[in-house]
Amino acid sequence: MQPKIRKIGILTSGGDSPGMNAAIRAVVRKAANEGVHAMGIYEGYKGLLDGNFVELSSSAVTNKINVSGSFLYSSRCLEFKTPEGMEKALVNCEKAGIDAVVAIGGDGTFAGAEDLAKHGILAVGIPGTIDNDIVVSDYTVGFDSALNTTVNNLNCLRSTCETHSRLSVVETMGRRCGMLTLHAAIASGAAILAIPEFPFDEDEIIRKALEIRSTGKRGMLAVICEGCKKEDGTKLSESLARRFKAETNIDATFEKFSHVVRGGLPTVRENVTASEMGAKAVELLLEGENSVVIVERDGRIQPVEIHFALATQRMYRGTLTAEEKKEFTPKQIKEMKALCERRTDELATLYKLSRDICHFHLTQMK
Ligand code: F6P
Repeated sequence: MQPKIRKIGILTSGGDSPGMNAAIRAVVRKAANEGVHAMGIYEGYKGLLDGNFVELSSSAVTNKINVSGSFLYSSRCLEFKTPEGMEKALVNCEKAGIDAVVAIGGDGTFAGAEDLAKHGILAVGIPGTIDNDIVVSDYTVGFDSALNTTVNNLNCLRSTCETHSRLSVVETMGRRCGMLTLHAAIASGAAILAIPEFPFDEDEIIRKALEIRSTGKRGMLAVICEGCKKEDGTKLSESLARRFKAETNIDATFEKFSHVVRGGLPTVRENVTASEMGAKAVELLLEGENSVVIVERDGRIQPVEIHFALATQRMYRGTLTAEEKKEFTPKQIKEMKALCERRTDELATLYKLSRDICHFHLTQMK
């Protein structure tokens, strides 16, 4: 017999991403259809500490699906990580009758959800970040919309670059992960790209641009992920823009597509996947599932243990310690490795494609 859930709390935490509202809406509607109340928690984990809640009926989520951002707002809350913070959160949950939480965000958000689960609140995570950097999931809510906005903006630049025979160095979003940049560069036909996962040579990039220009090409896009840092910690994008101006006769502009790509209309892919994930989160909670994150793998929406998901993130980043590995079975470690390899392969395949079809390589064959 599964425990009866009185109320499901919903929060969005960390950087917002398009589609978060669709996920919230799906949680509320699915819960209502199952006879369970939903409670919105404002400003992520901070709202849990402050008891800043709002009852969400089915009609309260009307007209939210087409808007980016999160109508429950978001924040990054350090106090939640302290024992005192957790105590406040638990007291507020008890007072409000919240015995389960759906937390939408990135890996920091999942760590918070795992903590809640350890303290007796059922918790499920939904991956919501434009970076698509959750290794256990093929997709994160927000990626497709941010990608389309990035590509639309690149296409806008392309025409003016062509007209004025300019090169635009464009810094794209992605703290550590180049997935957004890679897809955007391929889809917009960029001449040059750089992502943090692959080594770059700044001098080589400048040489390439000059070679491309020498073939008569007027407009050029150099799409550089914000996560690409030089040895001294400065950004490659900014340095390149400076150097093109100072050291070449190429007319160069610098553009930064930062938080703007989190806005706009969520795409169809976004809202469908976010809705699927939201509904699945409620379904699993009602089946008694706990401390899992809802992922998309090979087109299937399914749960993965948060503990496993976070350890896989660390393995991918090379920070999973030998001690931490002992918490998992050899089979689980094998699965983690396979997921990391899958992610590395995906990036490598796309990176190779981008190089196979970029203007520079075509001219090289002449
Ligand atoms: O993690 C998503 C992301 O949009 C990154 O691409 C970016 O580096 C970061 O968030 C920016 O975060 P903030 O909203 O805190 O400036």
